[in-house]
Amino acid sequence: MAESTQPAGDDKRPVNWINDDKWVHEQFESYPICKLYPNLRVKVEEVLVRWLAKFDKKIIHRMFKANKIFKEFNESAPFLQHILDLVESYTGPKLTLFDLCSGLGFVGCFLSEILDPEKVGNIYLIDKMFPMHGCESTNTQINIDHIRKYEWPIEIQCRKRNIKKTREQREITTLLESRPGPVILCAVHLCGTLSLQAINMYNSSNKYICLLLKPCCLPGKVHVYQKQEYVIGPHKFTARQLYKEPKWRGKFQFWNDNLMQCIAIDNKNLQDIPVSLSKVHPQNKFIFAARSAEDETEQSGKDWEMKIFSNCTKYQKPVTNPPNTQENSKLDA
Ligand SMILES: C[S@@+](CC[C@H](N)C(=O)[O-])C[C@H]1O[C@@H](n2cnc3c(N)ncnc32)[C@H](O)[C@@H]1O
Repeated sequence: MAESTQPAGDDKRPVNWINDDKWVHEQFESYPICKLYPNLRVKVEEVLVRWLAKFDKKIIHRMFKANKIFKEFNESAPFLQHILDLVESYTGPKLTLFDLCSGLGFVGCFLSEILDPEKVGNIYLIDKMFPMHGCESTNTQINIDHIRKYEWPIEIQCRKRNIKKTREQREITTLLESRPGPVILCAVHLCGTLSLQAINMYNSSNKYICLLLKPCCLPGKVHVYQKQEYVIGPHKFTARQLYKEPKWRGKFQFWNDNLMQCIAIDNKNLQDIPVSLSKVHPQNKFIFAARSAEDETEQSGKDWEMKIFSNCTKYQKPVTNPPNTQENSKLDA
């Protein structure tokens, strides 16, 4: 990161300064985004350089801590590119983007800067770790000062929602239904059964124009001891089957193949896009689903109920999917 733009020569000034744009450019050099999405890389770099000029030091420190931001952009690149293409060719009432389990919301923030505000009206970051509405974040919550203290070209709002809770899912449904046009459901790095929750959301309404899901870690092995079963509509599988698969790669493939079968529509694909630098756990699976005009009229999947439950009496506490009610504005960060 640039420390000074002053010429070297004064002892008190850092000598090895570099420009923000050069520094940002160099950070991406070892990442696959350079070869896979060179044009997107340029756009991301431009936005990151703008952020370095726009945000205060504390926010920059938080966002650029350990340079993780570059890894995140590298790994979400396939979805960023997909959304750019989708919005470019889109005509119709204004779109909305849900960045589900957003964390700091790099995906939503970048897209706010780059998408056409004539086509995309709002961006919602949804995460259970946001602070309560109007409150400062605690040490364990996600600090959202970069959202609420700054203006964004496309408005960004944060919603504190636990997507595993039925009532909070209903609030998301109410928000979904209040949108003027279709909603893009983008979910990057969803751990364990959060991926099932995202799929269940997508199945439940044809207002979701597409689902972009990048699953992250597998459900814990404790699910085997709990005899967990995952059921979405007619598709059912168990943690035992998952953990019977050899090696991490076998399990991750099984998990993703089964997630695919939980998606109620036909127009879907699971792509292996080699973005990961990890040799041990290369999480390179990207799920793309989009409703065709036929799916939209028939609303396939609307009646697909989700159940995640334990067959072990000690642990029996089923999670079922929700119907619809009002939004609880207290939870809006
Ligand atoms: C691995 S992070 C991914 C963050 C971001 N999408 C990214 O790729 O950088 C997972 C996020 O899911 C959120 N999360 C975990 N459980 C959740 C739940 N039940 N409901 C909503 N958000 C949840 C966490 O707070 C965290 O921000």
